[in-house]
Amino acid sequence: MHLIEVLELDAGSGIPLETVGSAYTPQGSEQGDESSLDDSDYDDLFSDEDEDMRDLESDTDPEDDESVLDGVPPEVTIPQAQLDSILGQMAVIVPCKGEDPNTIEGVLSGIPRGCLIVLVSNSEGRAYRKEVMMLRKFCRHARPALAIHQSDAAAAAAFNMYGLPDLVTHVAGGSHKRIRNGKGEGMMLGIALVAALCPQRRYVAFVDADITVPGAVNEYCRAFAAGFALNPNPGTETMVRLRWASKPKVRNGEIDYTCEGRSSQVVNRWLNKLLSAMADADPTGSLAAARDSEIIVTGNAGEHAMTMDLALSLRLANGYAIEPFHFVELLDQLAPQNVNAAAAAAAHAGYNAGRVPNLQPVTIMQIRTRNPHFHRVTDDSHVRSMWASGLGSIYHHLPASLNNSTTQTPSPPSSAAFSSSSSKSFARGEKLRGDILDFLADNHEEHDNSKGELVHEPPRPRIYPPVRQLDLDGFREMVRSEHKTLYCLNLPHFKLPRPNTIAPVYHHQYGVTPPL
Ligand code: GDD
Ligand code: MG
Repeated sequence: MHLIEVLELDAGSGIPLETVGSAYTPQGSEQGDESSLDDSDYDDLFSDEDEDMRDLESDTDPEDDESVLDGVPPEVTIPQAQLDSILGQMAVIVPCKGEDPNTIEGVLSGIPRGCLIVLVSNSEGRAYRKEVMMLRKFCRHARPALAIHQSDAAAAAAFNMYGLPDLVTHVAGGSHKRIRNGKGEGMMLGIALVAALCPQRRYVAFVDADITVPGAVNEYCRAFAAGFALNPNPGTETMVRLRWASKPKVRNGEIDYTCEGRSSQVVNRWLNKLLSAMADADPTGSLAAARDSEIIVTGNAGEHAMTMDLALSLRLANGYAIEPFHFVELLDQLAPQNVNAAAAAAAHAGYNAGRVPNLQPVTIMQIRTRNPHFHRVTDDSHVRSMWASGLGSIYHHLPASLNNSTTQTPSPPSSAAFSSSSSKSFARGEKLRGDILDFLADNHEEHDNSKGELVHEPPRPRIYPPVRQLDLDGFREMVRSEHKTLYCLNLPHFKLPRPNTIAPVYHHQYGVTPPL
């Protein structure tokens, strides 16, 4: 799980999957020497005055190059046809809440045509109508899309009845139910909708609706596809997380192309501490490389994508905790030897409910993109609550390998060694939790709320069971027949009984059927 970098936004088509100086070819065979440049070729490029540059060259040891990943070629061009094929199987979920429809339209314009657009809105009612009008206009040239509102009573009833009641709440002062507020909840609605209505979409991606540079959105989607194409462990479930080249801020009238967002700085640091504690507690040593590392650089990656099977299998967290909690959940899954202990701890702490033990191995690809990430400016308190949610994911949900002590869980009979290592791991977990509290105390601010959320402990995120728990057939039929806010555009395979559907024009105009 290292960082992959986008070298060229468009490296052309038809270029073979091999690179200068790389030993990689798609067939896995060694690349011939003739096509590589050797050191003497570089010498010709520098005049005598360029000694500094030459020193730089000779200092670079390929072994030290962190961009060289196990099983991933150092540099590679992914053929356009392969990207298109993956994009054609991808649904891109755009959670929105109160953005100007023109901004959302800009985001949609960056999503490659093969992708299914899924707009999940939590805007107020009249704004949703405008969003749908924008979407219908945007999709007038046969673009397939879905839109739904998070307050849809039928979707809430379907979650309630068919397996995910936790996602649903009563509307304050009303008799009906709705899906809870929150970005994470909106994303879960999007996942369920795609899985139920368009089951052939194998990949699901998430892009915020407030990005103001459509070209960046286009790069993100293509980077997702590239990540899936590059998975060094084909056949494993995959998650692709993006790290932006920069997240610019305007300071004193100038754009400051700062690299890391304010929340990411905090959350990445603590996720790496978590990983380090897990490496210390890991008797197999397989996590040794993660000790004191900065491997995780995408803790808050709002822009990420997953194989659909993975999206259905993970427990997911509410609101803005959703992205940091991915790591916590996946790290928890890293400890199969502790599954029984975890089950016992679950009974004790009420934590691991719904956890799918022994999730198959997951490959996480972190990719640094090229475009600067411009989006709606948020204030300091929003950023603080965002990193606090990230810390809450760690603090309240330590992975099983750091969360068991001999006092909490029975150790196997006559296993003193296990017992002692288990209590050491527990102590490491407790130390981490204590350090988080110290960090909060050091970063205390006057206006932190008096409910004690950020003052004493970070907030406890709500953790939802995997979407897979939902009976998708039941969910689909209930949403289809009783929906209030669902729009299906240009999806001839899925017809709604009531007028929200607009006539499918795709087949009519193009004589072909779009992918489901
Ligand atoms: N459907 C829905 N429901 N969407 C929501 C909700 C909700 O309750 N709340 C927020 N959104 C949408 C917003 O409209 C926006 O498109 C997106 O989720 C992100 O929300 P922002 O409020 O813009 O978040 P941010 O910019 O501070 O943070 C983003 O970047 C972080 C990394 O820096 C988010 O993507 C975070 O999740 C991410 O960690
Ligand atoms: Mg934003």
